[in-house]
Amino acid sequence: MTNLQNFLDIATEAALAAGAVLQGYLGKVEDAITEKGRPGDLVTAADKASEAVVLEVLRRHFPQHSILAEESGKLGNQDNEYLWAIDPLDGTTNYAHQYPAFCVSIGLLINGVPQVGVIYDPWHDELFRAAAGLGATRNRRPIQVSKTSELSKSLLVTGFAYDRRETSDNNYAEFCHLTHLTQGVRRSGSAALDLAHVACGRVDGYWERGIAPWDIIAGVILLQEAGGKVTAYDGSPLKIESGRILATNGYLHDNLSQALMQVPPLSAWQ
Ligand code: IPD
Ligand code: CA
Ligand code: CA
Repeated sequence: MTNLQNFLDIATEAALAAGAVLQGYLGKVEDAITEKGRPGDLVTAADKASEAVVLEVLRRHFPQHSILAEESGKLGNQDNEYLWAIDPLDGTTNYAHQYPAFCVSIGLLINGVPQVGVIYDPWHDELFRAAAGLGATRNRRPIQVSKTSELSKSLLVTGFAYDRRETSDNNYAEFCHLTHLTQGVRRSGSAALDLAHVACGRVDGYWERGIAPWDIIAGVILLQEAGGKVTAYDGSPLKIESGRILATNGYLHDNLSQALMQVPPLSAWQ
């Protein structure tokens, strides 16, 4: 077995175990929901319990590897070439409301490059997996991106970061512009699922700002292995730390990038 296959299988073990934890807490976290700082940025007992399970599995198998986990921060020796990025519950607001769009996301960077990704949606029992050169799957069957190349025929998805009340760079103008140019723009509330849904062809493209590494690393390799493309808004190489991502089926990429580079001000819609 290759190392990547082994990493993929262990990440799968961790994601499935964490998904079971999320299912167990569902509907039972009302008394344990707090805001992390910004209004609307929630954390529940389920986020923490899910993260504990992922950490236990990864540390047992890979004690030398570095970890970046949303609720615990940086763990272990950060100089290691292997860095696991963990979002134990992506879509916490949905989860707290029992809205069925949340998942566990576990990605592995090797020397800064996304190489392995597992995204598990426990509500729908959908397991998305990928590793560099090994392809992308949904519930163990190969997946591929859509072939839509025109904005007017596309369905997109995006999100709005928790700092949206504090900045005018809050994606509202982009949302209006793309809503007019396409068949629609969805807002699921789970960035990792957004990327998984581009990867399996349910939507044609996704963009977002204010996003954290643990939101996207698993989804980036999943989408690339499904035939999609991931860059900065302007089409230049993705910088994970920038917090901005443009992710599409590839066919739509240049058109969506151009549209994002030419967004009129919000006042244009009033
Ligand atoms: C959030 C979700 C949401 C995105 C936010 C993220 P969380 O993650 O992915 O879709 O719009 O920017 O922070 O807080 O639910 O893990
Ligand atoms: Ca997240
Ligand atoms: Ca989270």
